[in-house]
Order: sequence, then C-alpha cells, then structure tokens
Amino acid sequence: MCGIIGYVGQAEALPILIEGLKCLEYRGYDSAGVALLNDAELRIIKEKGKVAKLEEKAAGANISAQCGIAHTRWATHGEPSVTNAHPHVSMSGELALVHNGIIENYQLLKEQLQDRGYRFESSTDTEVLVQLIDYYYQKSDRQLAVAVRKALNQVIGAYAIAVVERCNSNHIVVARKSSPLAIGIGDNHENFYIASDATPIVAYTKHLVYLDDEQVADIALGQEIHISTLANQEVAADIQEVDMDISKLSKGGFEHFMLKEIFDQPDVLEDCMRGRILLGETKNENHIELSALRNNRERILRAHNITIVACGTSWHAGLIGKQLIEHYCRKRVTVEYASEFRYSDPVIDSNDIVIAISQSGETADTLAAIELAKKHGALVFGIVNAVGSSIARVSDTGIYIHVGPEIGVASTKAFTGQVTVLTMFALQLGHLLGTIEHKEYAETIGELSQIPGKMRKLLQQADNIKEISRAFTYAHNFLYLGRGYNYPVALEGALKLKEISYIHAEGYPAAEMKHGPIALVDAEMPIVFIATHHQLYEKIISNMQEVKSRGGRILAIATEDDKQMRQLADSVVEVPPTLMTLAPILCVVPLQLLAYYVAVRKGLNVDQPRNLAKSVTVE
Ligand code: M6R
Repeated sequence: MCGIIGYVGQAEALPILIEGLKCLEYRGYDSAGVALLNDAELRIIKEKGKVAKLEEKAAGANISAQCGIAHTRWATHGEPSVTNAHPHVSMSGELALVHNGIIENYQLLKEQLQDRGYRFESSTDTEVLVQLIDYYYQKSDRQLAVAVRKALNQVIGAYAIAVVERCNSNHIVVARKSSPLAIGIGDNHENFYIASDATPIVAYTKHLVYLDDEQVADIALGQEIHISTLANQEVAADIQEVDMDISKLSKGGFEHFMLKEIFDQPDVLEDCMRGRILLGETKNENHIELSALRNNRERILRAHNITIVACGTSWHAGLIGKQLIEHYCRKRVTVEYASEFRYSDPVIDSNDIVIAISQSGETADTLAAIELAKKHGALVFGIVNAVGSSIARVSDTGIYIHVGPEIGVASTKAFTGQVTVLTMFALQLGHLLGTIEHKEYAETIGELSQIPGKMRKLLQQADNIKEISRAFTYAHNFLYLGRGYNYPVALEGALKLKEISYIHAEGYPAAEMKHGPIALVDAEMPIVFIATHHQLYEKIISNMQEVKSRGGRILAIATEDDKQMRQLADSVVEVPPTLMTLAPILCVVPLQLLAYYVAVRKGLNVDQPRNLAKSVTVE
C-alpha cells in the first residue's frame, strides 16, 4: 500500500528520497511524488506510474535541497493521476503533506473547509487533511506541530503523515494512527529519515523510533525528536537498534524478488528454527523451546479455545495451524478471516487465546481483530515477520518468524515460515500438555529439522516446473485440489496463481469436487492435485480417476517414486517424503514456482502485480 519517505539533513535529499521510494515499491502503488524544500521554496514533482518516471522528471528539474518528503500512492479516493498523487499542497502554498491511510470523515471536513473558503483540486481525502492543517497553522501563528495536533483531533480514520512547511527547510512533522511510521536518527541529530517501514532507512542508520498510535513527532535538525500525544502530552522517544541484513533487500542475482524469496526458503527456515529447535545427541532428546510459550505457559495451557485471525496467505497458514494444534494439543481451534472477525460478535473471553498471523504486521483488518480480541480479554499471540511492526507491538506475546524482509507482493517464504512456527508452537504446546507422546514429539522435531535440506532438493526441480508451466500458460481457469493438510496448500497455490498471473484459479478440498466443480472439468481445464503419499491417498486417487475420465489435464504434486501417480497424471512434480503434518511446507514450493513461471511467460510484473499492495493498511 502507499509508502512514505522523508529526509532532513546534510545531504542532497532527492537521491535519498528516490532510493527510498524504490525500496517501498514492493508495497504496491500507482503514482509517486516528491516535495523538496530549499530557501523558502517548495517544489513539487509528481508522476503517474513508476518511480523511474518520477526520477527522470525530477532529474530534469535540477533541484538542490536538503529536506523533502515523498510518496508512492495506491489509489483509494480518486483515480491514479498526477493531480491525485501526493504530496498535496495547501491552498496557501505553505504546507506540503504525504499521507497513508484513509480519512473517513473527509467529506464533512471538506464541506466545513469549503465554507471557510478553501478550494480543492484533487478527489483525495488527503488534500482535505493538508487544508485542515493549514487552517490551524494560520490560526496558531504558524506552529506546525500545534496545527497538526489540532487537525488530527478532528480526524476519524487511519493515517501516517509527514508535513513540511515552506518557511523552514530544517523541519518535518510526522504523525500516525493505525498506519506505520518509523523515524531514523543519524549521528548527532544531523540527519533524520522517515519511512513507512525500516527498509529504506537501515542503509543510513540503525537507530529507529516507531511512533505509536496518535503520536506526533516534531523533527528539527540538530535537535532531539520531540514526541507528543494528540492531547499534547509529552512522550519519551523509545529509540531501538534495528539489525536488518541489507543483502536481503536485493535480488541477489535472481530476476525477481519472488524467485529469490522462493529459493531463500531453505536458508530462512533454518533461521526460523535456529535456537528454537534443539536437537539432542539422541533422537529422544530433541526438543523445542519457544520462550513466548514458556513465559505464558499457565495462561496458554489453560486456554479453552484458540482462535486464529489472519488474511490471505496468512489465513491459509492459519488453516494448517488449526490442524496441527488440534492434532498435537487436542484443543479446539477456529480460524477466522480477520476482516470478518473484526465485525463479528465472537464468543471469546479471558480464558481464550487469539493467534494473529501476519507477514507485514500492519494489516488493518488483523489489527482491528486484535483490538476486539483484547476487548474480550483474550491473550493475543502474534506470529509476525516484520520486526517492530504494529501487530508485533500490540500483541501480548508472540513469535517472530524471522524469514527476513519479504519484498515480492506474493507471499512465499513468509507462508512457509508461518507454518514452521505454527508447527513448533503445536509441538511444544502438545508436549507441555502431555497430548503428544514423547516419541512422536521427538521424531517430528527431527523431521522438521530436515525440511530445509529436503526443500533444497525439491528446488532442483525448478527447471522441470518451468517446462511444465509452458503447457499451462494460456489456460483461463485452474482447479487446485488437496485433502487434509494439503487442502490449505491447494488454496494457497490457487491464490498465488491468481495474484501474479491473473488466471482464475480455485482451491477446493478434493472430495468436494463431485459436489459442483466437476461440472467445469474438460480438456481445457488444468487440475492441480496435491497428492502426497499419506492418509486419504487412495481417496485422492479416486478423485483423479474422476477427472481423468472426463478428459481433464492433471498436474500432480506427489511423493518421490510414486509410480501410480506417474501413470495417472499428465505431469508430476515429486516432493521428498516427509510426515503428513509437515507436507504443506514442501508441497507449496512447486505451486509457488508454477505461479511464478506462468506469470513470467505471460510477461507480467511478478513482484508488483496489478491492484495489489504488500501491506494492506486500509480496510
Ligand atoms: O501481511 P499479512 O500477512 O497480514 O498480509 C495478509 C494478506 O494481505 C497477504 O497474505 C496477501 O494475501 C498476499 N498478497 C498473499 O500473497
């Protein structure tokens, strides 16, 4: 979703802002813009489309400035256009503002401002905000932070904003509510960086402050940051040291981030398990140590029900988590779309646990679901990738998945990381509860530790999958079918294909096929079966026969050396054998690659598919 970057300091602002915007491109956007300040001059440059176009335009403008703000916009109010792109400038020409989020009461505020003589050029809610700040700015003798606080007190909605004033090129005011914002602090307060997440900042400084909701930060060159609440209560800045591996932010020789992130999986899953899976000298001594579980042991052990809330791919991981926790821990688990849960009337109380799963840690629906869970007194357990993100901070406790920044909009390594964390969680909880036999516990841990190695072997089939993708590139519809633990894998495979290749795809439990979708089967329709050699294998073979007899084309994800599968399916991708409960972590990989290669063959923008955003910070 939209991205904010800002800089004030000793260096030329434009290259820092453009590089920052490029780092934020992965979030998804349709236009971009920059405001530069120098000697009481405010220059705005905006472009529809990619940051590269903005960069070209800005280079031609030949502007030197040491302060500026910039933005990538993902349209909500008003079409993608230069006029609607940010920064927006107040009618007085004195203020420029960039904004992420949605001002819900913008129409009312706009009418009030129109009555006061303000005129508007764009269709955005953001322009209303800059005019409102301007109104208070004029009334408060040009005290920017005061004006920002007053304006935000009128606002209903979500925002992260950065505002600059024409008369002072050493000054930026920022604020947030329900939309992330980080401030990077350079040595001696000589350089400050502002961004929607840490990725564009870590190249310059490791010292970061993450603003909390309804906080306003006044950033002036050479001075300490001054943070206050909307009620003007002073807040001490909580400066954190962020350790992010910058090499993970580059494509590392791969054509796309998505492909790199697929191939990163064996290594990052090892990172995810490091220090948590402890292998003993004998198999029997293997164990798992998740400090969040240990530290909240009593509360978690006595939980009556567990509810998992998440969206998209994270929701699919939740469906696997349900099966793992019910199997190993014998506790009832429900999995809810966070967007539905937030407006539901859930039957949860202080005896329950709500597990919130999110890669970005910024998904607005998941954040709202957490808020509701907390109101009911449940313990919120976050499973999050982005360190320091909003969900990580509002959760009572939790586990980072530690798979490194995920840049491709289509989630890949975050999914396998989430499932790995859920597996460790279920195994340790089952062990503490005594609902899993020690032998099964220790052996499953041993097998889990082998998964990265098996995945490396599986990835050697990438060329085979690339070849298979050739036959499927021009299909208009796909079905993905799986059972048990592989049913959520079918859903995830279908979502990956939809997201990046724009081919309609549906995931189903294989046995449901005969209740409707079988009507769609013909020679034009590829059907992907996730059919590993586990429980329900024979039943899935019957489902494949049903497809075969209707002329359907089958791609099977099957266990190595499965001869029956080779006879039945038109194409087969073989996965190394593993336990049924761990199969999803391997089986999803060929589906990620299939989606990737189909999209590449279609010449599509794999890392930034149309209409999608990496972190969905609006409802
Ligand atoms: O950051 P989150 O995990 O909370 O995001 C949830 C979904 O928006 C996300 O998984 C989305 O479905 C991805 N584009 C999937 O590839």
